[in-house]
Amino acid sequence: TKDPLVVFTPSGKRGHFPVGTPILTAARQLGVDLDSVCGGRGICSKCQITPSYGEFSKHGVTVADNALSEWNAVEERYDSKRGLPKGRRLGCQATVQGDVVIDVPPESQVHKQVVRKRAEARDIIMNPTVKLYYVEVVEPDMHEPSGDLERLREGLKAQWDIDVPKADPHVLTHLQQALRKGAWKVTVAVHQGHSDSVPSIMQVWPGYYEGSIYGLAVDLGSTTIAAHLCDLQSGEVVASSGLMNPQIRFGEDLMSRVSYSMMNAGGAAEMTAAVRDGMNALFTQIASEAEIDRALIMDAVFVCNPVMHHLFLGIDPFELGQAPFALATSDALRLEARDLELNLHPSARVYLLPCIAGHVGADAAAVALSEAPDKSEDLVLVVDVGTNAEILLGNKSKVLACSSPTGPAFEGAQITSGQRAAPGAIERVEINPITKEPRFRVIGSDLWSDEDGFEDAIATTGITGICGSGIIEAIAEMRIAGIVDASGLIGSTEQVGTPRCISDGRTHSYMMWDGSAKGGPTITVTNPDIRAIQMAKAALYSGARLLMDKFDVATVDRVVLAGAFGAHISPKHAMVLGMIPDCAIEKVTSAGNAAGTGARIALLNSKAREEIEATVRRIIKIETAVEPRFQEHFVNASAIPNSAEPFPILAT
Ligand code: FES
Repeated sequence: TKDPLVVFTPSGKRGHFPVGTPILTAARQLGVDLDSVCGGRGICSKCQITPSYGEFSKHGVTVADNALSEWNAVEERYDSKRGLPKGRRLGCQATVQGDVVIDVPPESQVHKQVVRKRAEARDIIMNPTVKLYYVEVVEPDMHEPSGDLERLREGLKAQWDIDVPKADPHVLTHLQQALRKGAWKVTVAVHQGHSDSVPSIMQVWPGYYEGSIYGLAVDLGSTTIAAHLCDLQSGEVVASSGLMNPQIRFGEDLMSRVSYSMMNAGGAAEMTAAVRDGMNALFTQIASEAEIDRALIMDAVFVCNPVMHHLFLGIDPFELGQAPFALATSDALRLEARDLELNLHPSARVYLLPCIAGHVGADAAAVALSEAPDKSEDLVLVVDVGTNAEILLGNKSKVLACSSPTGPAFEGAQITSGQRAAPGAIERVEINPITKEPRFRVIGSDLWSDEDGFEDAIATTGITGICGSGIIEAIAEMRIAGIVDASGLIGSTEQVGTPRCISDGRTHSYMMWDGSAKGGPTITVTNPDIRAIQMAKAALYSGARLLMDKFDVATVDRVVLAGAFGAHISPKHAMVLGMIPDCAIEKVTSAGNAAGTGARIALLNSKAREEIEATVRRIIKIETAVEPRFQEHFVNASAIPNSAEPFPILAT
């Protein structure tokens, strides 16, 4: 007769195994993704399974039907110490007694998938660079002298079948103590190595180490630094924190920081020190929030634009301030945290994603990793809007990239009533096309300005200004209501038919809100404001249009808006303004902080690092400054929505 059949769900993998085979063993032989840190010793509980049909052993006695979830002595002991959920068994303890069906719950999979809600984005599959292994080490013997490290490595080879040729220098300082304290049983953290480094032991704990190890995904922006602290075993984000980039005191925007370094001897070094200090403060903060020791942070991934990249690495960004915008290196970098004076685990690793070009940095590479245009069947345009717009256009066949200088208008800067997105800022606008009367919503309240209770709802914040998404909606609504013409000019009271259009003798402005009676500001949209937004949106559109020329297409299948700004802007209004190419509204989605997500993917999956490096090598870089058609597109795109191109979907 044949050995019993073992079927694993959800993988569907199956095979025949002799009675008495541990489920963990069967899983390994079939290549089923079942986790284990203790190597089947009943200590780690990472191997939990749910028996769904069949016979399992209990205290050596076979039980039929669903009572099979009964535990053996090892499981009972584990349950009394740490708790084992009812209905679960340890895969290393349950053995095959007859035909069985076994479900591997998501948290027991090594390459588990970290949940991402957006269907079109890539999944995050766990495959971190640092993993934990529990090992029993042979005791030293006078007759066969060998070092403790050598015997630990032999244990890893024999019990886990992995070759770890090396240990980080820091390991030797605590290895012997840990081995003896753990009675020759230890848990080790092993860095898996990569194309140009071999696996290496990073840390040794006596006995079975019950804690976890952590990694950081850091989005180093010119204004803010945002970090996610992730559990490297579960993939979960355990804490998130942000900080203003301390370099702001050397210049608000990137170019002013580049010129600070040009004008001041040692200026670049000052900015390097500032950002590293800020980083360390942020890491202290995030570790204390998660209540973990900062020395348990063993890996960190950074994404940033080219200027931030250079300043963080201690490279003078001088060359990035002038044509041809040469980077010191565009390759991905694998460094140690201490090289960058970061205070994490003593041998914590650091990974910087590759830069795409002199203007298109590792942050854009991270967006490409998160949104995966290179894996898309349909043609996708990905736009990350900041003071520069990074634009990617592509599908499976090829991906093009460029950056376009949109300036700070989308962030509310250089706008008469403009402000950063903060409580009190107008963020949503509607204008009645008949009466030309506006209604709006303010950050911090869910009510529209014409709804009951609005005044009370904004009592604490007041109405302080209009943010980037608000100004876009305002201008788009003004265009729809006929207050602004296609060239961007606001009509007079007589032309438009509302006293809200106010003349200063030369141009007109539209008054959204008169707060003067209550001592608040008057919020208006002026012609220069519209001009500033026209310039910014024309830059964005022309970049996208240029890539479409190069791709030889007139339309795109879908548009992804990335970044904090992209998350807030309304697709309809962006299209009314002609900011993005004409496309069905439901095909325009927001990706939130895609650069941050890309950093998290690279942190949790070492294969994704190699993947994005290969992708970036294939991305075709377009330099907008040297393309004559860019100017042409820019002039056309200055009109609302565009003086030369039809927006057929918008028109319907
Ligand atoms: Fe560790 Fe089963 S493998 S408890």
